Amino acid sequence: MPRRDMRYLPPRAKPLTAGPRRLSLAPVRIVHVPLGRRSYDIKIGPGVLGRLGQECARLGLRGRCAIISDSNVAPRFARGARQSLSKSAFESAVISVPAGETAKSLKSAQACYDQLAAHRLERKSFIVALGGGVVGDLAGFVAATYLRGIAFLQVPTTLLAQVDSSVGGKVGVNLKAGKNLVGAFYQPRLVLCDLDTLATLPAREYRAGLAEVIKYGIIYDAGLFELLERDLPKLLDREPKTLASVVARCCEIKAEVVRQDETESGLRAILNFGHTIGHALEASSHFGKYLHGEAIAIGQVAAAKLSAEVLGLPGRAVERITNLFRRAGLPTALRLNRPQQQRLVATMKLDKKVSGGEIKFVLARRIGSAEFGHRVPRGLIERAIT
Ligand SMILES: NC(=O)c1ccc[n+]([C@@H]2O[C@H](COP(=O)([O-])OP(=O)(O)OC[C@H]3O[C@@H](n4cnc5c(N)ncnc54)[C@H](O)[C@@H]3O)[C@@H](O)[C@H]2O)c1
Ligand SMILES: [Zn+2]
Repeated sequence: MPRRDMRYLPPRAKPLTAGPRRLSLAPVRIVHVPLGRRSYDIKIGPGVLGRLGQECARLGLRGRCAIISDSNVAPRFARGARQSLSKSAFESAVISVPAGETAKSLKSAQACYDQLAAHRLERKSFIVALGGGVVGDLAGFVAATYLRGIAFLQVPTTLLAQVDSSVGGKVGVNLKAGKNLVGAFYQPRLVLCDLDTLATLPAREYRAGLAEVIKYGIIYDAGLFELLERDLPKLLDREPKTLASVVARCCEIKAEVVRQDETESGLRAILNFGHTIGHALEASSHFGKYLHGEAIAIGQVAAAKLSAEVLGLPGRAVERITNLFRRAGLPTALRLNRPQQQRLVATMKLDKKVSGGEIKFVLARRIGSAEFGHRVPRGLIERAIT
């Protein structure tokens, strides 16, 4: 393997062979999330969903479980998940919520609790979150609160969920007033990223996931950013090797940030680069017009412009950032009139990162390094979102 590629294999990655029924001997990459008693592994590779049952047994889980999924994912993957579980003597029930952001609500959580109770899940039972970030956030929140907390595993099936939402233990639901306003920190026992599941992901959803991938390059790893500039066409083609090493590198960065700051008292906030504006956009378009990834692509380009004004991020870096999002097929700008701009800034004030009414931003000093806590004058924000 060329030396340059080696840098993108997580140093702790141990090659394993995939499940016995697979012909492919593609290695499973393992990224460890070291959080003391709450530590867990992220296993990344093609076909890892087939190991679900074995993995649950290895974790010492017992008895009954519920697979929480959605109306797009359950028909595709719930059967395979159940088969794997039953081979290891786990009884499972499938709870399916409607696909889409609106399922991340207290109403859906209530429906899940009722079904968990109907299926007689107990303190020792566990939940498998099988789906994208919506299912992961909802199922994790349900796991954190049902019977004051039962074990759960993440089996993310979107690129966004594999590189971001399934790792780190932030779980929750939305309120009308804004996204993720009710939630908890609750770590999964294992994350299984089956790269094969990404084959059926619609192109628009896949590109939205790339917005979080690019984010890691901007906030943490200039080398990853350069790799993305070089290998974007392969990544857009979902070329397995490139995809595997990029997903693993993103998980490794997320694991490292979460290790240093599990409950977001400092460093972890850099993961919100582009999210203050992104969340406001999602909320102001009623979680409908933009996908999360699209909203934060626009938010990150705006945050790059603010970084240039406030921290002296070079103009050339702003251009490279904008170009990479554009090449990934993501939106980079908005056309807003003045009242719309003002409404968007007002919505930003509802974001939970706001304290004392002041909006603080994550800004980049250069590609590969970000800082949290910068106050930005309102006029600059308005200019950056035009
Ligand atoms: N907890 C965190 O740390 C964190 C981080 C980032 C984002 N999030 C949250 O994640 C959510 C967005 O997640 P998402 O982008 O995965 O959206 P999503 O869960 O809505 O999935 C996107 C769409 O793809 C479908 N889908 C999922 N997997 C599929 C597959 N393999 N094949 C075909 N279709 C598939 C889903 O049914 C859905 O329609 C947002 O609510 C966001 O707030 C949370
Ligand atoms: Zn995000």
